[in-house]
Amino acid sequence: MKAILLTKLGGADVLKPQEVPKPFIKNPNEVLIKIQFSGINFAEILARRGLYKWVPARKGFILGMEGAGIVEEVGDEVTDFKVGDPVIVARGFGCHAEYVVMEEKYVFPALQRLSLEQNAAFAGSFMTAYIALVRMARVELGETILVQAAAGALGTATVMLAKALGLKVAGTASSPEKIATLHKLGIELAINYSKEDFKELAMEWTDNKGVNVVLESVGGKIFNKSMQCLSPMGRLIFVGLSSVRFNKYNPLTWWSTYRLIPRVNLLDMLGKSQGILAFHVGRLLDDNYTEIKKSFVDLVDLVQRHKIFPIIGKIYQLNEITEAHRMIESRRNIGKIILKIGE
Ligand SMILES: NC(=O)c1ccc[n+]([C@@H]2O[C@H](COP(=O)([O-])OP(=O)(O)OC[C@H]3O[C@@H](n4cnc5c(N)ncnc54)[C@H](OP(=O)(O)O)[C@@H]3O)[C@@H](O)[C@H]2O)c1
Repeated sequence: MKAILLTKLGGADVLKPQEVPKPFIKNPNEVLIKIQFSGINFAEILARRGLYKWVPARKGFILGMEGAGIVEEVGDEVTDFKVGDPVIVARGFGCHAEYVVMEEKYVFPALQRLSLEQNAAFAGSFMTAYIALVRMARVELGETILVQAAAGALGTATVMLAKALGLKVAGTASSPEKIATLHKLGIELAINYSKEDFKELAMEWTDNKGVNVVLESVGGKIFNKSMQCLSPMGRLIFVGLSSVRFNKYNPLTWWSTYRLIPRVNLLDMLGKSQGILAFHVGRLLDDNYTEIKKSFVDLVDLVQRHKIFPIIGKIYQLNEITEAHRMIESRRNIGKIILKIGE
C-alpha cells in the first residue's frame, strides 16, 4: 500500500509516498480500516522537523494523526463496528496510509451529517477545542474568549464551538483572508495581529476588564501578552507552540526556542486570581480514555444540534504531501488541510 513514511527529518521535501506492507489484524479487538482522507495536524510539521516529543519510538513511522475511512475487516471480539461502516480514527500516527489497523476503542463512528473528508478534519481539532472550552476552562454562557491563531484548524473549531456554547468570541489571525473567514464564522472581534495590537483591542472590547478565557497555541510573546489580556478569574488554556523554530544544528535558534517556552510567575497569578491549564488530547486518549469517550459523545451532540461543519482549507492528493506541509508551515492554511488517500 502507499503511505507517507517519515524516515528522515528535515524540510517538507523529505516527504513522498512510498510502498509499504499492508497492515493486518493481529488481535481480536482490532479493526482494519481503508483510509480515504487524512487530516494534517501542525504537530506533524513539528514531528517532521524533529521537534515533536510524542512520536513512535521506532525509526521510520507513518505520518497522519487522524483519518476517516471504511471498515474493511473486524477482529472476532469487535462488537461496535462491522464491515462497511464509515469511521474516524485518531490515535498516534499512521493515517497517511491506504490502510490502518486500530484497536476498536480508538475507532469512532463517523458523523453521518458530515462528508468523509469533513470527518477526517473533525476529531483532532474539535476534540481539542471541546476539552479546552468545556472540560478545562469550564466556560459559562456569556463569557468572553480570545482565540489565538483563530483561522487555523484548531482555531476555527474553537470559534465555532465557543459560539455554540454562547460565548462572545474574539480571535487573532495574520492575513486579511483569514480575518474574512473569521467574520464569516460570525466572530465578534477579528484582529489581524500582524498589524494590530491584540491586547489593546481585546481590552477595549471588554471595557478594560480583560477576557475570561484565552486559547493559546502560539507561544513566546503571544503567550506573554495573552496573559495580560486575562480578567480576574480568567483562564488561559495552553495547547501548543506553533511559533517554535528550533534547529539543533543552528545555535542561533537555541536561545530563541528557549525564550518561546512560556514561563509564568505564580505570585503574579495569585495577585490577579488567574489560572493556566495545559493539556494534550493525544496523551489524554491514553491517560484518561473515559474522559475522551464522554467528551466525544457530548461534542458530537453539540455539533449536531448547532449544525457545525469543520472548515477545510484545501484537499491535496497523497503525492502532493510536500505542498500540503508547505502550505501549513507558511501559515497560509485556513481551517484544516486534508490529504486524499484512496477511493
Ligand atoms: N495540545 C493538544 O492536544 C493540541 C491538539 C491540536 C493542536 N494543538 C496545537 O495547536 C496549534 C494549532 O494546531 P493546528 O493543527 O490547528 O494548526 P493551525 O492552527 O492550522 O496552524 C498553525 C497556525 O499558527 C499560527 N502561527 C503563529 N505563529 C506561527 C509561526 N511562527 N509559524 C507557524 N504558524 C504560526 C498561524 O496562524 P496565523 O498566521 O493566523 O498566526 C498558523 O496558521 C499547534 O501548535 C498544535 O500543535 C495542540
